[in-house]
Parts: sequence; structure tokens; C-alpha cells
Amino acid sequence: MSWVFERFTRSVVSMSALCIFLAVVASSLGAFAASAQEASADLAKGKALFGLCTQCHGTNGGGMQAALAPAIAGLPAWYIEAQLVKFKSGQRGLHAQDTGGLRMYPMSRWLQNEQEQKDVAAYVASLPAVAPAPTLAQAGDAAKGQGYYAVCSACHAPDGSGNQGMGAPPLTGLNDWYLLTSIQKYKKSIRGSLPGDTLGPAMIGMVATLPDDDAVLDVIAHIQTLAK
Ligand code: HEC
Ligand code: HEC
Repeated sequence: MSWVFERFTRSVVSMSALCIFLAVVASSLGAFAASAQEASADLAKGKALFGLCTQCHGTNGGGMQAALAPAIAGLPAWYIEAQLVKFKSGQRGLHAQDTGGLRMYPMSRWLQNEQEQKDVAAYVASLPAVAPAPTLAQAGDAAKGQGYYAVCSACHAPDGSGNQGMGAPPLTGLNDWYLLTSIQKYKKSIRGSLPGDTLGPAMIGMVATLPDDDAVLDVIAHIQTLAK
């Protein structure tokens, strides 16, 4: 019977995480929307700033596994900008075990102000998305993964396109290895647990619905079937 209890607690944990999450989103996105309207982005300046980013994220923004840097080309500007703000303010990337995050943190500090964050975000968003090649040695079961994905679709949308209102990024077009390390980092509270991170903690609750390593690979296999 203990698995019944475990399932129950797990869903209670994710439901309460969801409620806290919704309250936080309502307050933080209001502020974000207001600031997003202030200035428009300069794509030419963004392109110049992007020169630094290519060292790790690749000239086309398609990512570089050796640098632990994911594909960022074609991600929505609101998400890129929000993550640059999170890195720079120490809400993401500063956990002692976050090898990739610790590399990205100083790069976010290199961007001088909100305008530079906005410019480079708009430029990266304008790049055509790169469909990353599969890299994982062990592929998951996409059919089982579809079942696990039901929870995720509430925020990331059934087609994986994300939902700005929820602050949830698209999951399509991400590298499979990056999906894996990101989910593992949320599971270990390496990402989503730093002071001031309002949206990350919800994801820690959500990955708890994936009971083991196989389930993680299964949900990734399903996400990979979602067309960009
Ligand atoms: C020294 C290598 C390096 C450079 C240079 C670099 N990054 Fe990164 N970036 C990373 C790594 C590694 C990660 C993955 C962090 C993680 O695993 O959480 C990352 C993550 C990101 C993310 C989060 C992506 C997501 O899906 O959440 C964004 C956005 C990003 N970088 C934008 C930029 C921009 C814009 C620049 C240029 C101003 C830049 N990066 C320069 C290494 C780098
Ligand atoms: C309650 C809404 C919600 C649900 C449900 C949810 N997520 Fe998320 N997810 C988010 C938010 C918000 C973020 C951005 C967090 C941040 O800023 O660090 C995110 C980020 C992610 C990321 C990191 C993406 C990147 O580019 O770095 C992955 C991977 C992810 N979610 C996978 C999942 C999976 C798999 C599930 C289902 C097991 C799931 N999420 C369920 C809201 C949700």
C-alpha cells in the first residue's frame, strides 16, 4: 500500500507547489510586463553583444555540449531576458554544484544593463531555431513519457510550446542532454532553490512526479517527439 500513499503525497506536493506557483506568477509577471514595455530592443546592438555568447552557445546559437551550453536560438525573448536577469541577480547558476550555471553566471554579469539584456535577448530570439541532434546513449519510451507529460502540459502546453503567462518556456528545440541535466538539477534542488528565485521552486515540485531515472528518460523521449 505504501506506493498508494507515495503517489498521493506526491500529487499533494505538486498541487500545493502549483498553487504557490500561480500566486507568485500573478504578482511577478505583472511587474515584468510593465518593465517589458519600457524600451524597445536594438537588434544591431544585440547582434554585436551576441559575439561573446557564440564562444559557448555556437555561432548559430545551436548549443555546444562540450561547453555545457544549450541551444538558445529561437527561444522567446521574454524567457531569455528573464533568465539573464536571474543569472545576473544570482537566482540561477550560483549553486556550488551547478557546473554549467557557474559558467553562465559571469557571462550574465558582462551585460551592463537592462537594455543590453533586452537587445541580446531579442537578437537570440530572432535566430532560427536549430533542431538539436539526439545524443543520449539510452533512449526513453516516448509512449510512457506521454503519460508523465500530462502534468507538464499544464504549463509547458501539450505541444511543448510553453506559456508566457505561466513563465514556462518552450521545451521543444532543447538539446536532449540539456533536458536531462536540467531535470536532474531540479531533482537535486541545484536549480530552483536559490534565494529570490520565484518560478524555479515550482519546477522542483513538478519533477517529483517523475519517480525514477527511467521516467525522466521517458518524458524526454516524448518531448523530443514534439515538433518545433
Ligand atoms: C562561458 C560559456 C558561456 C558563454 C560565453 C555564454 N553562456 Fe549562456 N550558458 C552557458 C551554460 C553552460 C549554460 C547552461 C546553464 C545551466 O545548465 O543551467 C548557459 C545558459 C544560458 C541560458 C539559459 C537557457 C535556458 O534554456 O534556460 C541563456 C538564456 C543563455 N545562456 C544566454 C547567453 C547569452 C545571451 C550569452 C552572451 C551574452 C551567453 N549565454 C554566453 C554558457 C555560456
Ligand atoms: C506549474 C507550472 C509548470 C509545470 C506543471 C511544469 N513546469 Fe517546467 N517550468 C516551469 C517554469 C515556470 C520554468 C522556468 C523556471 C525558471 O525560471 O527557472 C520551467 C522550466 C522547465 C525546464 C527548464 C527549461 C530550460 O530551458 O532551462 C524544464 C526542462 C522543464 N521545466 C521541464 C518540465 C517537465 C518535464 C515537467 C513535467 C514533469 C514540467 N516542467 C512541469 C513551469 C512548470
